[in-house]
Amino acid sequence: MRISVVTIFPEMFEALTCCGVFKRAKEEGLIQFDAYNLRNFTTDRHRTTDAYPFGGGPGMVMRPEPFFRFVDWYTERFGKPYVILTTPQGEVFHNELAMELSKKENLVILCGRYEGVDERVTTIVDKEISIGDYVLSGGELAAMVIAEAVSRFVPGVMGDEESLKDSFYNGLLDHPSYTRPAVYKGMAVPEVLRSGDHERIEMYRKMESMKRTILRRPDLFMKKELTEEDKRVIVELVRSLVGGESRD
Ligand code: ADE
Repeated sequence: MRISVVTIFPEMFEALTCCGVFKRAKEEGLIQFDAYNLRNFTTDRHRTTDAYPFGGGPGMVMRPEPFFRFVDWYTERFGKPYVILTTPQGEVFHNELAMELSKKENLVILCGRYEGVDERVTTIVDKEISIGDYVLSGGELAAMVIAEAVSRFVPGVMGDEESLKDSFYNGLLDHPSYTRPAVYKGMAVPEVLRSGDHERIEMYRKMESMKRTILRRPDLFMKKELTEEDKRVIVELVRSLVGGESRD
């Protein structure tokens, strides 16, 4: 998969490509990643990418031409991309959307800055995405969040495909995890995790996952379509809370 961003600060993306899973995916050729400088797609002597807003108001607005020129150039070179614009006005990003985007062959992310991007740019955009209800000074961090989350769904990127089964993969939050030492500052790892009984461990983890989701993210729980297994987990969870087989 090819992920390309266009930005006035391409150097910011070194934070994404310098280390970790994304760096390795790039080195192994699973992901082609490039950060393009929007200024290279300007035509004026001063390479300007912004201008005052028509109608007045504070701040500057990003001009449309460099974005159009970039997408034309890109399309000629690699074929038609799926184009994202990062903006607080977009659809709020989530894991399922990341999975959907990972199926695109060519993904382009346009990073906005200043007070916004000329509205006409949206005519070459397939989806506007926000990473949350807060305002960043620019779309670069949002683009990194999107690129990183998408890359995890590209086959081969996560060494262990089981690692994809973390928070949200089945609409539930992750269960708690523990490592050595078994007792730290008087806090012991739950006995079941050291029992070696894989069936009990699996049920314990599913129950913890369900409990956390209900308590911390009832919105996620309400959206979830319960499987037969989920119902079994809820039954076990309630049983564990009332302490046994009690009927009332
Ligand atoms: N640009 C500024 N704020 C943003 C946000 N929350 N999400 C995506 N892009 C942004």
